[in-house]
Amino acid sequence: MARTAARTVASTVVIAAHPQMAQSRVTARLMRRAARAGAHVDVRDLYALYPDYWIDRAAEQAALADAELIVWLHPVQWYGMPPLLKLWLDEVFAYGWAYGPGGEALRGKALWLVVSTGGTADNYGATGIHGRPFADFLPPYERSAALTGLRWCDPLVLHGAHRADEAALQAFEDRFAVGLDRLSGDPRGD
Ligand SMILES: Cc1cc2nc3c(=O)[nH]c(=O)nc-3n(C[C@H](O)[C@H](O)[C@H](O)COP(=O)(O)O)c2cc1C
Repeated sequence: MARTAARTVASTVVIAAHPQMAQSRVTARLMRRAARAGAHVDVRDLYALYPDYWIDRAAEQAALADAELIVWLHPVQWYGMPPLLKLWLDEVFAYGWAYGPGGEALRGKALWLVVSTGGTADNYGATGIHGRPFADFLPPYERSAALTGLRWCDPLVLHGAHRADEAALQAFEDRFAVGLDRLSGDPRGD
């Protein structure tokens, strides 16, 4: 059956943010996997797109306009997101566009957080060095989603990223690929 133009429109946008992508084992690997997923997935490598931190708000908002699923892919740094993703959030999720009067652009889309941490699961346990369960660091993400009408999906987290061997990395990549398929729905499969 002939494919319609609508089927080539990206329904998933992966916002990947890593200040040193060339050194990354986890984020870079998942970014490459997303890029292989098909034309319905638009992968945006923020540090490659905006090395000068001068974010093109209109281009970023346009990229999100037709998306059904937005993925934030990054290493956890100081219990949160890398600075360029924070700036992206400040610029792109603008008043009157993402929230406030007339700010409906993101309403009904899904947001999926995919992150890795150097800390192990035990480090995020009750007696661990980080002092709190990892979920305690997520409310700013969840509330940003809620305020803008994004549907919050269960995050995918790889703890102990530095110690992850090839099998663990591959298993995490596979879980990511399954999640991408499940949450975005491959429009080519219609
Ligand atoms: C500046 C900086 C801050 C970091 N902060 C944290 C942190 O708060 N919690 C944590 O568990 N790991 C932290 N890490 C470790 C990273 O999360 C880890 O190196 C990363 O998830 C590995 O993924 P990658 O292979 O994509 O680089 C930090 C690393 C850097 C460079």
